[in-house]
Amino acid sequence: MKPHIVALTLALADRALSQSLPFDADAQLISTSGEHKFVPPNFKAGDQRGPCPALNALANHNYLPHNGVATIGRLIIATVKIYGLGMIVACFLSVYGAIFDGDYKRLSIGGKTNLINLFFSRPGGLIGSHNNYEGDASPFRGDQYTTGNNYKLLIDVFTAFLNRSKDNNYTFDIITQFRADRRKHSVQTNPYFFYGLFPGVIASPGAFAFMPRLMANHSAEHPEGHLTREVLLQFFAVKQRDDGTYEYNEGNERIPDNWYRRPLGFEYGQVPFLLDILAMAAKHPEFLSVGGNTGEVDSFAGADLTDLTGGVLNFQDLAKGDNFACFVFQLLKMTPKFTEQTVAAILDIINGGLGALPNSTLGIDCSQLPGFDSKMARSYFRGFPGSEGVGLKPRKQ
Ligand code: HEM
Repeated sequence: MKPHIVALTLALADRALSQSLPFDADAQLISTSGEHKFVPPNFKAGDQRGPCPALNALANHNYLPHNGVATIGRLIIATVKIYGLGMIVACFLSVYGAIFDGDYKRLSIGGKTNLINLFFSRPGGLIGSHNNYEGDASPFRGDQYTTGNNYKLLIDVFTAFLNRSKDNNYTFDIITQFRADRRKHSVQTNPYFFYGLFPGVIASPGAFAFMPRLMANHSAEHPEGHLTREVLLQFFAVKQRDDGTYEYNEGNERIPDNWYRRPLGFEYGQVPFLLDILAMAAKHPEFLSVGGNTGEVDSFAGADLTDLTGGVLNFQDLAKGDNFACFVFQLLKMTPKFTEQTVAAILDIINGGLGALPNSTLGIDCSQLPGFDSKMARSYFRGFPGSEGVGLKPRKQ
């Protein structure tokens, strides 16, 4: 890990930790009754549920359409209002999903659906988004190549994780170590393990960091959030039977009763997210090493992100203004399957959407951040079989 990354991370972490958060029970309580009571999906009727427990829970509580197919606007509003995700991060995740895995306006949070039919080829939703969005070494889902399924929770992995806390408090540190172990396991078992720019550097840390940052329960005693076993069981659709064993009920993710979101005005935006990405990487530099196995297990070849960007990347600058959002766009440009035009189109759509919000002064300005040499990175990624093609084919269904 480069010394300037460690220094920046420690400085930012110190600032973030010294900030005390308020708690307002009325404003932070999320309703799980009345029109928002839990209703399980009806898979036979075509309801879609997929790899994201948070989106599944939103659909089960009528914060997203029950059929699991949502417009960009519904996704943004639900993730900001219910979980306290920052607006720009929510816009990015939603627009990116609708463009690459939906019909440009809507996204299926599960797999293919008759409701979306784009030029005869129905986009695959989040389940069909391997290496676009969904990636290897997820917290509780298997690698698509090794398990043949990328969206069902692996109950053994989940219950082993529950044993990692001695005091029923699943902290950011516990989750960071768990992320390192999951990545190591994938390198050792998946010959086509791939850790690409967007799935590896943005989506993967999101899948881990969103647990303590957005799923934790808040209270006057724990204004900064407290992620307990009980909360995890509800969000991940797992029940403990009377004999002590655990049962997973696919698609039945719930928002826990008496669950309080992050304080309003303290949403989890691009700066805290960047801080978390760097804090994780400060402990495990391998998180910033993008690449993959070369067709055999334990053959990981990767390049440090700072080197891959030709030394132009300066983490200190990323915390300023819109630079982090712009950095994510740069990463996309470096990925072989995305053209410069598609990436520019996403930025336009996000800015159009942000501009349309009432009284909004938001808008992403990328004029300050120097560009990277995307050609060098594109050819680098072509060397990994998992990046395109091979790793996409599940071994068994
Ligand atoms: C529009 C917004 C969102 C989209 C499109 C989205 C999409 C995804 C996708 C594609 C995955 C699979 C990633 C992987 O393969 O590792 C995932 C996993 C995950 N997401 Fe989301 N997500 C969104 C918002 C959220 C929010 C707001 C939370 C937290 C409240 C969240 C929590 C998680 C967690 C914990 C996982 C890991 C699941 C596991 O491995 O068991 N997501 N999400």
